[in-house]
Amino acid sequence: MQRPVILVIEDEEKQRRVIGLHLASAHYDVKAAGTAEEGLKLASDSDLILTDLKLPGMDGLAMLEKLRSQNSHTPVIVMSAFGTVENAVEAMKRGAVDFLPKPFSLDHLSVVVEKALEVRKLRDENRELREALGKRYQFENIIGHSPAMQEIFATVERVAGTRATVLLAGESGVGKDMIARAIHQHSPRRDKPFVKINCTAIPENLMESELFGYEKGAFTGANISKPGKFEVADTGTVFLDEIGDVPGSIQVKLLRVLQEHEFERLGSNKTMHTDVRVIAATNVDLRAALEQGTFREDLYYRLNVVPIDIPPLRERREDIPYLVEYFAKKFGGEIGEGALERLMAYHWPGNVRELENVIERTILLAKGPRVGADDIRIDSAPSRARPAAQTDQFLPEGMTLDEYEQSIIREALKRANGNKSHAARLLGLTRNALRYRLTQMGLE
Ligand SMILES: Nc1ncnc2c1ncn2[C@@H]1O[C@H](COP(=O)(O)OP(=O)(O)O)[C@@H](O)[C@H]1O
Ligand SMILES: [Mg+2]
Repeated sequence: MQRPVILVIEDEEKQRRVIGLHLASAHYDVKAAGTAEEGLKLASDSDLILTDLKLPGMDGLAMLEKLRSQNSHTPVIVMSAFGTVENAVEAMKRGAVDFLPKPFSLDHLSVVVEKALEVRKLRDENRELREALGKRYQFENIIGHSPAMQEIFATVERVAGTRATVLLAGESGVGKDMIARAIHQHSPRRDKPFVKINCTAIPENLMESELFGYEKGAFTGANISKPGKFEVADTGTVFLDEIGDVPGSIQVKLLRVLQEHEFERLGSNKTMHTDVRVIAATNVDLRAALEQGTFREDLYYRLNVVPIDIPPLRERREDIPYLVEYFAKKFGGEIGEGALERLMAYHWPGNVRELENVIERTILLAKGPRVGADDIRIDSAPSRARPAAQTDQFLPEGMTLDEYEQSIIREALKRANGNKSHAARLLGLTRNALRYRLTQMGLE
């Protein structure tokens, strides 16, 4: 530790020297001043100030006042030959931490100085702790100590109070849902509806009626009128998950809601108004869809007012121990050192969702209360393993790039049992982008 610096302000030269020598022999760094004015200049570099009350020019009490107005955190001990109670009380009122009536023994001086420095240390530690706590963005149950997550929390805090449209991007399982809900929870709309729409799960021909509602008789089977999600979510938040899967015909209508806050129910020409905040999420790179023309540029820019990119877990491994601790507690187990090491080393293609599942399964099946390295049950599906890009082969023998692409798309469809949305996810494409490719291949 660095030596504490003590500033002695005393107009009597002999006393100044004696005090200074004593403190120096006790291994403090000593600075000395003969006047308050001189002392004030040295105050900010000192850990403790020892000052006489009666000084030529500005006196000790006035100096205390001055220090306080400068927001100084340096503690001050006041010494005075006029050791009256009034003086002491007045000095303490103005922020002095202790009072030394003159004459005092050097031992007494040592004790008072040590105590003041100890108090100061505690106070500084408290302040640092408070500041650190204040800076750390924490959201209920969202764990994130990595700089990337801390930045995301700060952004969430900043945009939550606004109406700005947010576009969350990140692989499946990184926490897009959680962040969307946190934005809603921290917004003035928190008591209003939060309506999530999974654009992949809704078949294209039902999407319009799901989003915007329909009137009785709008189509066969429409026996009653029904409000859509945008109507239900009025004054609240709409969360459009997997926005890349919204078909072109609906994209135009979404754009209108975002721009004009207007829409019509299916089978009606009455224009409805809605006040919703829109949060969208995507696990594919929408810019690729823009280039292919499967996603409208104007809609993209409307959605992308505040972009939040959540990095995959493997790019913020420092979050893993905290997440592990959190999930272990949630599932009532304990993860040992060796087990944690294994969890840190894995590349988590399914991100936090996969980690959560692994911890749950592991704790459920572990032999004892404390999970060891051998208990960890990561069951990585072979299709998820990273491709063997390490081979020096460029393209398979005799294949063109088009043929190679087609073979990969066919393989994806096979693995997805013909489900195009699922196949698109395997390929990191939007459903529309995959459809575009299939059309080009003559398969659609
Ligand atoms: N930072 C986090 N802290 C705690 N749990 C998380 C975090 N991120 C994700 N999870 C958990 O992982 C799972 C997947 O998160 P989710 O928000 O649904 O991801 P996404 O929408 O990106 O696929 C959820 O069970 C969620 O509770
Ligand atoms: Mg999600």
